[in-house]
Amino acid sequence: MKILVLGSGAREHAIIKALLAEEAGHQIIAAPGNIGIAGDVTVVGIDQENPSIVRDFARDEGVDLVVIGPEAPLVAGVADKLRAARIPVFGPNRSAAALEGSKSYAKRIMDEAGVPTGRAVRAETVEDAIAALDEYGAPYVVKADGLAAGKGVLVTTERDAAIEHATYWLGYGGVLVEEFLEGPEVSLFFVTDGETVYPLSPAQDYKRLLDADAGPNTGGMGAYSPLPWLDERFGGEDLFVDEVLKTIAIPVVQQMAAEKNPFSGLLYAGLILTERGIRVIEFNARFGDPETQVVLPRLVTPLSALLFGAATGTLAQQPKPAFAEASAVTVVLASENYPEKPVTGRPITGLDQTVAVDGVHLVHAATADVDGGLVATGGRVLNVVALGTTFTEARARAYDAIGRIQLEGGQYRTDIAARVAD
Ligand code: AMP
Ligand code: GLY
Repeated sequence: MKILVLGSGAREHAIIKALLAEEAGHQIIAAPGNIGIAGDVTVVGIDQENPSIVRDFARDEGVDLVVIGPEAPLVAGVADKLRAARIPVFGPNRSAAALEGSKSYAKRIMDEAGVPTGRAVRAETVEDAIAALDEYGAPYVVKADGLAAGKGVLVTTERDAAIEHATYWLGYGGVLVEEFLEGPEVSLFFVTDGETVYPLSPAQDYKRLLDADAGPNTGGMGAYSPLPWLDERFGGEDLFVDEVLKTIAIPVVQQMAAEKNPFSGLLYAGLILTERGIRVIEFNARFGDPETQVVLPRLVTPLSALLFGAATGTLAQQPKPAFAEASAVTVVLASENYPEKPVTGRPITGLDQTVAVDGVHLVHAATADVDGGLVATGGRVLNVVALGTTFTEARARAYDAIGRIQLEGGQYRTDIAARVAD
């Protein structure tokens, strides 16, 4: 197949590596891609958020499938434009991407579909917000209602900070005040064509910047998959996944179809496993980053068949996703001062040393070639991904590899997957 992948991050690099690993031998183009992706496939500098430009490019190139990685092109209506031109596209239309972009839309869909989530109140004024904060009590959870580039959620025990956050985001639309949910977090992805829903294997993301979950929230500092501790609680990963499929993913997909706003693409369920049961904390309309980097290397059935099946309404005819037993760990290397104000432009060296470590590969997020040398151009710079037969082995490999990379002021967590290693 000729496949166009939109996006420029580590997630897209992971998607491309999974497509390249298939026996079929696809022709892949990335737009705009990044310097790491350019080492693997052709990259083109078209504007991924301009629906007409993407459509015209896909048509002129005779592309069989367009895969949309990030949310920005979804929100810009790129999938809508491609669908109107009958070009197969993996990713929901703009109105269905509201499941990610609008927290209140997601809450309404969950309400209608009977999906378990935290209680929440949408506040329009500071007085409403304070009343809701006092009703639920500490710890406080305040969420911007629209897309906020990962900065919209505050979880805090300080009432004043919660009020300040609510006041700030009220200036950009509404905010949601939510009850605090306690328990381990799980990211679970579903591929769907709007009717058939196939689950992938669960992963755990590390959202806080620092070890032991200290520091500010980030886009994600590392991840691992699968989650062996699900066995004890649910009697196995399959039983857990099946419960989420039946009580969360299928009801949401059916509800959206019934409302004539079908969701096709990647449904990402962010879950908290509370003592009272599984609760949804958020949906995303795209693959998660960095979770994709540990889920896709374990996928043994062809990714392209899943994406194409979702894009063409033929998912039920495609093989169900199956996963290798392997343990996968990814560690993110971030720039100094990430996430506040990342320092960019610094050289990165030692990448060639990581190939000496078994079971390791790199995916790039924010790197560029300047005068023949690699430099960091953003907050999350690259990921080391390691596979092993055990988490102890995968973790040792990941940290061996990341230790060989030099970036002045670079930061990474040292406790990724520690809880599942011996
Ligand atoms: P989100 O952007 O919705 O994924 O939220 C970012 C992070 O805030 C999540 O990964 C959780 O760690 C935390 N969070 C969000 N909602 C809640 C909640 N209701 N209770 C506790 N923690 C939450
Ligand atoms: N890792 C969290 C996200 O992709 O939203």
